[in-house]
Amino acid sequence: MSLTYKGVEQAPVPAQPAPAPVLHLRDSSGVPYYLKAYYWWAYVHPRAVRIFERQWLVNLILWGNYARLRDAALGELGESLPGRTLQVACVYGDLTCRLSARAAAGRGIVDVVDVLPVQLDNLRRKLPADAPVRLLRMDATHLAAPDARYDRALVFFLLHEQPSHDRERTLHEVMRVVRPGGTIVIIDYALPRWWHPLRYLWRPLLAALEPFALDLWRREVADLLADAPTIRHLRKKSFFGGLYQKVVATRAGGGAA
Ligand SMILES: C[S@@+](CC[C@H](N)C(=O)[O-])C[C@H]1O[C@@H](n2cnc3c(N)ncnc32)[C@H](O)[C@@H]1O
Repeated sequence: MSLTYKGVEQAPVPAQPAPAPVLHLRDSSGVPYYLKAYYWWAYVHPRAVRIFERQWLVNLILWGNYARLRDAALGELGESLPGRTLQVACVYGDLTCRLSARAAAGRGIVDVVDVLPVQLDNLRRKLPADAPVRLLRMDATHLAAPDARYDRALVFFLLHEQPSHDRERTLHEVMRVVRPGGTIVIIDYALPRWWHPLRYLWRPLLAALEPFALDLWRREVADLLADAPTIRHLRKKSFFGGLYQKVVATRAGGGAA
């Protein structure tokens, strides 16, 4: 149908494609669109939680590296964890149970934050009744905690799930809430070495299932932290031919390194 305006025929306006969802936005209950769009099958749907809450399955997805990566993270934090420990996002398997045992040994407390109630409920069922753990519904990109609240923080395989805007906000928040001199441990994907078969075989699968994961292949997590004035010391260790990495950062301002 054509329209006429002041005697001049106007070309019909072509239909506009619907705007792509802005992935850093949240729905009315605060759930990020990237979780609903790409991770409903892994974390959001209650059936997904029942399926994936099997350590052998997570271990399989991590090519047999779950225990190694879990222990690498716990090893950085310490055997006994006094004070306040933050775990950013729930994790399938026994990582949090082990973390809370270390906090109990140091008479400390663990706060686990996650944006999905279904994940927090699942974690509650895994923990012993007397575990010194608080489960807090919170978005990692806007932590409702004062600056320097925590002695240490753990971010286990969260960053690869997030679009870059959310990833950067999460890192910013973690650096903010860890006290000067405190430790931040990050475990996540990284670019495998050139000779690693998974560098070529895993890429299309990651691209299809976890579309933001390849960001971590293109840009090092350590690089995201390197320029932060709040970071004093940074080190990285690779695992499994580089497919996984551990980044350990120390917050600046807590005395000499
Ligand atoms: C830590 S990651 C994946 C961990 C790993 N694949 C595993 O379970 O072994 C998954 C969790 O991150 C949570 N999550 C994702 N984005 C979040 C955000 N912005 N704030 C808080 N939690 C978030 C999800 O709800 C989910 O529970």
